[in-house]
Amino acid sequence: MPATATAPRAPAQGAGPRRESEGWLGLYREGRFVERRRRVHGGRLERLGVFELPRGARVLDLCSGTGEALDTLHEAAFQRLHGADLHPELSRACAARHRVVAADAAALPYREASFDAVVCLHALHHLGPDAHLEGVLDEVARVLVPGGLLHLVDHPDAPAVHIAFALLSSPLALATSLTRRWRRQLALERVELAWWFSRGARLPGLLAERGFATVARRRDPFFFYLTACRSGRPPR
Ligand SMILES: C[S@@+](CC[C@H](N)C(=O)[O-])C[C@H]1O[C@@H](n2cnc3c(N)ncnc32)[C@H](O)[C@@H]1O
Repeated sequence: MPATATAPRAPAQGAGPRRESEGWLGLYREGRFVERRRRVHGGRLERLGVFELPRGARVLDLCSGTGEALDTLHEAAFQRLHGADLHPELSRACAARHRVVAADAAALPYREASFDAVVCLHALHHLGPDAHLEGVLDEVARVLVPGGLLHLVDHPDAPAVHIAFALLSSPLALATSLTRRWRRQLALERVELAWWFSRGARLPGLLAERGFATVARRRDPFFFYLTACRSGRPPR
């Protein structure tokens, strides 16, 4: 079945998304951060094993932002790419290059079993509170085919991450234009990151409840890379 967009679905009661602040959106669109995303996404997707998928696979980039991961996949000859992001202004930034929709990840405008793979890079920590994250995972299970793959990257609740963030947030940190931007970003994501560090350990259990089995898990000091396979059970 093609990944045909349908009317947006309503999120479950009390499970609405958190919207980003204007400050965060402005920083996210800054040229230097856009360039950095272009440079790092290839490595992230490689570590997740996404380049091993057939080029005809239907791939959804969930929380696609301004589309740098979609660019990377397009350059690697993937042909059936889609993106979804809550913020229309971010989707518009890449609408000329990719098929993207402005949609809440917990209320996706796609039919059941529309995708062979869903990638979600650096966005889990934006998907709180708990009820909303659960709604997002329900939607991912619904839009993936049985046997489809979910590829996730985010920060682990790990000492290296906390030390790096504390150093960057410190007034003693070396003040380069890049560290100033990182400091602003960390300040703007303080609530999201605090939620994620306190609740992210639930992720494997939440995936298992939805019939996902972990097929690969890697860590480096600052990120985890998780690939999970949706079981053959019918969508919830
Ligand atoms: C840190 S950015 C990562 C963007 C992109 N995945 C990347 O790595 O370049 C987090 C993204 O999640 C999006 N987002 C946050 N909440 C969302 C939701 N409920 N549904 C869809 N997108 C959401 C934001 O608009 C933003 O583009």
